Amino acid sequence: MDTQVLTFWVNGKEVSTPVAPGEMLAETLRYRLGLTGTKIGCNEAECGACTVLVDGEAVLSCSFPSVKAQGRRVTTIEGLATPGREPNLAILHPLQQAFVLYGAVQCGFCIPGQIMTAYALLEKNPAAGEEEIRHALKDTLCRCGGYNAILQAIQAAGKAIQTGQPVQPPVVPEARQARRVAGRVHPRADAVAKVSGTAKYTDDLFFEGMLHARVKRAGTPAGILRRLDVSRARSMPGVVAVMTAEDLPAARTHGLVVSDWPVLVGVGEVIRTVGDALAIVAAETREQATQALDAIEVEIEPLPVVSDAVQALQSDAPKVHPQGNLLKHIKVRKGDVSEGFAQADVILEQVYHTPMHDHAFLEPECSIARPTLDGRMEIYVGSQIPYADRSQVARVLGVGEDRVHIIGMLIGGGFGGKEDIAGQIHAALLAQKTGRPVKLLFDRHESLLVHPKRHATQIRVRVGAKRDGTLTAVETELYGDTGAYASLGEKVMTRATTHSSGPYEIPHVKADCYAMYTNNPPAGAFRGFGVLQSAFAIESTMDTLAHQLGLDPIELRRKNALRMGSITNTGQVLKDSVGLLECIEKVEQELRRKAVSNPFEAWVDPQNPHLRRAWGFAVAYKNTGLGGGAPDKAGAEVELLADGTFEVRTASAELGQGLPTVLQLIAAEELRQLVSNVRVWLSDTDYTPDGGPTTASRQTYVTGNAVRYASAALREMITSHLAEHFDVSPEQIQFIEGLAQVANYSIPMTQVYEIVHSAGRKPVVQYTYWAPATKPLGEGGDMHFAYSFAAQAAEVEVNTLTGEVRVLEVITANDVGFAVNPLGLQGQIEGGVIMGIGHALTEAFLTDQGRVITDRLAKYRVPSITLTPKITSFVVEHPTADGPYGAKGVGEIVIIPTVPAITNAIFNAVGVRVTRLPVDQEWILRQIKAREAEFQPGD
Ligand code: FES
Repeated sequence: MDTQVLTFWVNGKEVSTPVAPGEMLAETLRYRLGLTGTKIGCNEAECGACTVLVDGEAVLSCSFPSVKAQGRRVTTIEGLATPGREPNLAILHPLQQAFVLYGAVQCGFCIPGQIMTAYALLEKNPAAGEEEIRHALKDTLCRCGGYNAILQAIQAAGKAIQTGQPVQPPVVPEARQARRVAGRVHPRADAVAKVSGTAKYTDDLFFEGMLHARVKRAGTPAGILRRLDVSRARSMPGVVAVMTAEDLPAARTHGLVVSDWPVLVGVGEVIRTVGDALAIVAAETREQATQALDAIEVEIEPLPVVSDAVQALQSDAPKVHPQGNLLKHIKVRKGDVSEGFAQADVILEQVYHTPMHDHAFLEPECSIARPTLDGRMEIYVGSQIPYADRSQVARVLGVGEDRVHIIGMLIGGGFGGKEDIAGQIHAALLAQKTGRPVKLLFDRHESLLVHPKRHATQIRVRVGAKRDGTLTAVETELYGDTGAYASLGEKVMTRATTHSSGPYEIPHVKADCYAMYTNNPPAGAFRGFGVLQSAFAIESTMDTLAHQLGLDPIELRRKNALRMGSITNTGQVLKDSVGLLECIEKVEQELRRKAVSNPFEAWVDPQNPHLRRAWGFAVAYKNTGLGGGAPDKAGAEVELLADGTFEVRTASAELGQGLPTVLQLIAAEELRQLVSNVRVWLSDTDYTPDGGPTTASRQTYVTGNAVRYASAALREMITSHLAEHFDVSPEQIQFIEGLAQVANYSIPMTQVYEIVHSAGRKPVVQYTYWAPATKPLGEGGDMHFAYSFAAQAAEVEVNTLTGEVRVLEVITANDVGFAVNPLGLQGQIEGGVIMGIGHALTEAFLTDQGRVITDRLAKYRVPSITLTPKITSFVVEHPTADGPYGAKGVGEIVIIPTVPAITNAIFNAVGVRVTRLPVDQEWILRQIKAREAEFQPGD
């Protein structure tokens, strides 16, 4: 069909461009005008990332036909700052400045949409209050969960606009700012680019001659591929290549631990899940590639479906893999549980169910493969494990790892969902075949189908305790649905199992976990790594125990809590950094301060007696690092450059958690430099040493230490050169805020570089940090080198007429060892709480006999700003012996206690014990009615 010419005004300039029939404004802006600051997160008018202004009104540009913009004025994120200058804080619009200063930016993918929505609001009413802001932003999702910071930033920007004064930064405790670098509040290094629309994610890249790839998916959860005919697709207009399993040059499978995931399912082979790839197409345009998919003819002989983990273990269940459905039976043994239960005055048992969850990161997966003139393959991708991508791509291409170059791009959220291969291998295969760059961008439907989920679980908990609440035994039995392929299922379910008796010292523990293959989409890593599920089960049971024994739920936790010298259920003696008691104390103090009487008793609003409020409480712990005997190391390189700045290089991924800022601060601390004098380069397998996977909350600790020691070694190296050059002792040399002080002289770093360079040395140090050794499960000793701890209280309001549950407030305390970057830490904490609220109340990734029901973002209910409660946060710093300045992980611990804190609060409010997630409003209502009927007066 014919294209049309669209003439309109974009950011104050008149522009004319052809547009195709049906083309949406987001596509025109991004792919024709190169204004990639406007993001496409879902393409179904659901997430708000694509928000722009048309004649001053906020519109979702992914569903706004371009032709409707004819003659109108469009404003995008690129149009807010003062034009004509490189983005920097000073030239930004007050909204953009406030987002930077208030730490409202994490992965950054939603930020253009947030800012443009807020811009439209403040243009009309700069004095907009909290409720008005919430209303305006109700459909603009932030999966990183930075809603409170976003709210504060918009209010601060509104004030600045009204008064004409600069944006006032948030008030920071003086004690924090007394620190030199690490531990002070610093805005993120990458925030300016993210708020100004110049930050580049993979889909923002374009290469000359680039092809567009699509993947033919099985669409059926179990079967044998009987026929695959791609001949018609090959002859479709614009199609350059179609590949099937017959065309694979080398390895036919991939996988992070077990290589069991087929790159392409061949004729006669087994389809195990709906997202299995059957054929890949590269065409001149994405539309042509999509049309070619429809021309591929497929015949599949259906097989019986295995759809849950318990069914999968039954002896008559169909086999998903030839060896059977059991991926791993994981066992924890401590003491003798029969003895422990015999000592108990009370024994409780309950079964819990948790669903699959989707990461719902706002940036869909995208990979670009580009053959280089020297015969290598470059892959541009936002990956959590760049070196693992390199080896998996190389195996399938049949080339050496040195022939593959992974170039890490910004990642618009990951949360564990970008650890496995998505499109990297398929894009590389097509690029290898065609000799041209190939972009493979998932749409949201495909993203939901393919990337591994959080494991659905069934967990049975049996707890024995003395009358005073002392735990005598805990026995758990877990079933984890790892879906069609192993991914990180064994590791995830091992963490679920080892943490399944909670952060308590218990003499007798027995846990058995069955990680099972099914025909569901694969399950793998997701923030919390299995511990979220088991924490829901054990913390709900602990609350029931407190209720039965008539004990205060906080006191019960305190009595049994892990502390210094405790022995965990895997036989580890905790020797340092055990801040659980302090977390409990912080939350308790705040709770008692807020609540007029017993916070765990229901409070009924006299004006609205159908609204019942109560608090709930939960605690958690989570390992830092790989643990379990796996060697855990990270490499980093630090170099003084000729311009006098320092560069930190490591292949660790930034998913939005703020790693570049953490590493920048650590290097600046060790080198005694200004923070602005240090920049960080991440995730490039040619130029940055392997930092290991961004998983298990390990990067601050492990890669942070690599940067710390590399920086310290570089400082020593430079010091010895200067000492020799100036003939002074090393003690007479100091580094002070960007200068080298030699005796009484201050030397700029550019000159320092010259001195070292002229001595024939390059001022660079590479360091590989090995974390303390750990022991495999079952061998006793240190299974992990550090643990983070947390306590949380949540206040809910339950509407007894409708069953609706609202979270009103959360108090959280997290022992993170040391807060290297408090502003980034706050974002992680609040984001974790918001995600936890989603898991408790709204989110479930649903399948029916292996077919995906939640196949669009609109069907998977990510929490919006309207669900955001007040969050009071305490940072507890019980330093580790080895982490940088005592730091340990934070990314995961923050989400783990949220779910049981909420469900325990529901019990306290209306007496209904939630055993299945997410909380079902109608089920709650039925339970309330049943209880009311049971307790009718006079009965
Ligand atoms: Fe909002 Fe990541 S910062 S989605």
